Amino acid sequence: RLYRWLQAMIFAIEEINQNSKLLPNITLGYEIYDSCFIVSRGLEATMRLIIGKEEPFPNYNCTSRTPLAVIIGGAASGTSISMARLLGVYNYPQISYGAGADILNDRHQFPSFFRNVPDGNIRSRSIIKLLLHFGWTWTGILAEDTDFGELSTQSLREELSKADICIGFSEIIPIVYSTSKINRLVEVIKKSSVNVIVIISNEAYIIPLMEEVNQHNVTGKIWMTTESTSTSISLFSSHLVRTLAGAIGIALHRGNIPGFRDFLLNLHPFKTHNNIYIEDYWKELFGCTWPNQDTYQSVETNVGIRLCRGTEESTELNIPFFDVSVSRFTNNVYNAVYTAAHALHDLYTCSPGEGPFGNRTCANIYYFEPWQVRKLYITDLQLLHYVKNVHFINKLGEEIYFDEKGNSPAVYDIVNWQVTTDGGLKCVEVGMINFSAPPGKDFIINNSALTWNGGDTQIPRSVCSESCPPGYRKAARRWQPFCCFDCIRCSEGKITNKTDSSDCMECPYDHWSNDRRDKCVPKAIEFLSYKEPLGAVLASVSTFCSLTSGIVLLAFIRHRDTPIVKANNRELSYLLLLAIVLCFLCCLIFIGQPLVVTCLLRQAAFGVIFAFSVSCVLAKTIVVVIAFKATKPNSNLKKWVGHRLPNGIIFVCTIMQVILCIAWLISSPPFPELNIKSQPRKIIIECNEGSAVAFWCMLGYMGQLAIVSFMVAFLARNLPESFNEARFITFSMLVFVTVWLAFIPAYLSTKGKYMVAVEIFAILASSAGLLACIFFPKCYIIFLKP
Ligand SMILES: *[C@@H]1O[C@H](CO)[C@@H](O)[C@H](O)[C@H]1NC(C)=O
Ligand SMILES: *[C@@H]1O[C@H](CO)[C@@H](O)[C@H](O)[C@H]1NC(C)=O
Ligand SMILES: *[C@@H]1O[C@H](CO)[C@@H](O)[C@H](O)[C@H]1NC(C)=O
Ligand SMILES: *[C@@H]1O[C@H](CO)[C@@H](O)[C@H](O)[C@H]1NC(C)=O
Ligand SMILES: *[C@@H]1O[C@H](CO)[C@@H](O)[C@H](O)[C@H]1NC(C)=O
Ligand SMILES: *[C@@H]1O[C@H](CO)[C@@H](O)[C@H](O)[C@H]1NC(C)=O
Ligand SMILES: *[C@@H]1O[C@H](CO)[C@@H](O)[C@H](O)[C@H]1NC(C)=O
Repeated sequence: RLYRWLQAMIFAIEEINQNSKLLPNITLGYEIYDSCFIVSRGLEATMRLIIGKEEPFPNYNCTSRTPLAVIIGGAASGTSISMARLLGVYNYPQISYGAGADILNDRHQFPSFFRNVPDGNIRSRSIIKLLLHFGWTWTGILAEDTDFGELSTQSLREELSKADICIGFSEIIPIVYSTSKINRLVEVIKKSSVNVIVIISNEAYIIPLMEEVNQHNVTGKIWMTTESTSTSISLFSSHLVRTLAGAIGIALHRGNIPGFRDFLLNLHPFKTHNNIYIEDYWKELFGCTWPNQDTYQSVETNVGIRLCRGTEESTELNIPFFDVSVSRFTNNVYNAVYTAAHALHDLYTCSPGEGPFGNRTCANIYYFEPWQVRKLYITDLQLLHYVKNVHFINKLGEEIYFDEKGNSPAVYDIVNWQVTTDGGLKCVEVGMINFSAPPGKDFIINNSALTWNGGDTQIPRSVCSESCPPGYRKAARRWQPFCCFDCIRCSEGKITNKTDSSDCMECPYDHWSNDRRDKCVPKAIEFLSYKEPLGAVLASVSTFCSLTSGIVLLAFIRHRDTPIVKANNRELSYLLLLAIVLCFLCCLIFIGQPLVVTCLLRQAAFGVIFAFSVSCVLAKTIVVVIAFKATKPNSNLKKWVGHRLPNGIIFVCTIMQVILCIAWLISSPPFPELNIKSQPRKIIIECNEGSAVAFWCMLGYMGQLAIVSFMVAFLARNLPESFNEARFITFSMLVFVTVWLAFIPAYLSTKGKYMVAVEIFAILASSAGLLACIFFPKCYIIFLKP
């Protein structure tokens, strides 16, 4: 891989040197050092480049050669950072093709650093875009145990929390193999409910972990790889397929360098000069050995060894090295060299008098300083100026320039690891994240091109808790990230019509929640109506009873001359029957929607009519008592016999109730009212009695009258006659009092329309009691035994 980067640099420089348009008459040279990803080696190489001697003496210029223009590298952030600090002192432009660390964005610390890889923040944001696209809000992070891993994790955590994505675990991959640490990691991965795991690690560190995960048969996890792992061929072996298939990740943008494949295929130990690795390369390529001093010995003893001849054909090899269509880092190296060349070209083609420096001067390409010190313009940077402002279109048609932080436009490819026909893995491009594209076009992914672990085409899920449907609200779990929650049904009267809502809304006062708690529905309006069975039955019973009472009344009037009617104080009987008819009829004002008039009338009418009927009974009783007592000789009760006494009793007793009711209606009249409190799901239209005291006084007065008549009748029950009116009155009053005593608890314990129904029932029962006990025996005689 790295050898290919090196070849890309050589290829680019040779191409530029042959290009008559780019830097004509100028030949670029190069020196290439390997930092081995070690900071000190990187620094040493940098110093050699600056000073120009094998032994690095800081601050000495030991060269007498062409100026050093640009440094391309390093590949990793660690080495690039220290190189950039050193190069920043001299202001040598440095273009890195692989260092993504965020800190390198700092222009104060690293004034001469440029790069054409996206930085860590862009990487984090790209990961977030992917996670959000698939609705994964529950992730794990595995990062290598280096500064790079730590800083990347930090940046990723910040972006995750901004995007409301939770972290199930965040673990470090050891960079030195440790069985216990790896086993612990595998346990964490196995136990966690997280399905999506972001890997921020060099491929070298992740391989031991993946081998172990594979051993434990962990499947169904989605590995989200970053650019350092996304294209690592070493993970694509067939025995890891069941674990790693379906991985998705971001990779550096792919480029297909024209002509590069031929260049690689033409590398040959006999044709290529000044390439010290070429023999080793050939050895690796064909697995042969060059005949030289060392190996001659072994060849003699080891007949099996193949000798390299130089006639081997590299075109016959099908290895990833030659597959330049997916070059990513290699492409970056190639672009970095071209960027440097274009900057130099701009410097070279500067026409005097139009230059960017003091007095519009130009720099000289044969002798220029990395920066130009003039008396007034202290840091008039020469080549650095041109690198900063470089802007060109490369051979692939891509625009290349640096922003004010020294970064190229950020583009990532989205890749998916899919199973090949021969059971291995391949990296398939499924989309692109282009940060310079307008919103909406910046994230392109072909969902139908994706395959997941186990060959699924369904997008797997990774959430801590499934989202709450409408009607439920989220309730956080203690000590757990906010993505983990329980769904709790909204309580009655509260709703939510959104998924994942954190609160339930109260319904308006005249509305109530439906059963699914996702809508407020108008509350049912309740009153005892004629249309419903209960109302209709009560109304018809009361009509029927009043008709019956009416018939009895007619019968009494018709048979007014029969002894039984005459003996029973005709006028009082008529009055009582009339009162009973009214009693039954007054039920009707209790049924139907309460209006101002009916509310005002119903209790008053009921009170007065009942007082009237009970006082009729009382009068009747007293008349009976007097009638019998007065038959005894010398009784001074004789003067009370007649119509005056009963009429007086009826009048007085009734008028008192009338007064009571008038006082009630005047002081606090009953009125219709919407009751929304007593039953949450209903609005009850009811009559507010205005004054409960008045209501109970009215009822109490009625009860008192009834009790008095009951007692009088009870005392008179044993009067010595075969026909004893008092006994019937006793019975009827017993029924009456019992009904109204039972009425009190029933009335107090019911609500709404049933409260009204109870009262109607009591009215019907007590009136029927009067009718049945007092008048039916007489009707029996009138009709059946005349
Ligand atoms: C390159 O060199 C040739 C011959 O010396 C000269 O004719 C030509 O003008 C030069 N081109 C540039 C761009 O300097
Ligand atoms: C070093 O010195 C030589 C000769 O004095 C000069 O040509 C060369 O440009 C200098 N190099 C740098 C990097 O200053
Ligand atoms: C994994 O699966 C293989 C074959 O199915 C089995 O032999 C092995 O014991 C399993 N390993 C674990 C750790 O379950
Ligand atoms: C610019 O040119 C003017 C006149 O030619 C001269 O006086 C001045 O010193 C120059 N400035 C610099 C910075 O070279
Ligand atoms: C990214 O988007 C910009 C602006 O639309 C476009 O010019 C550029 O070519 C795109 N890059 C790639 C690699 O498609
Ligand atoms: C998406 O992928 C499917 C399957 O690979 C392919 O058939 C289709 O053409 C792709 N669509 C786009 C817009 O690239
Ligand atoms: C949810 O209810 C609110 C308020 O009643 C309403 O404005 C909104 O449109 C409803 N949303 C949905 C998705 O029904």
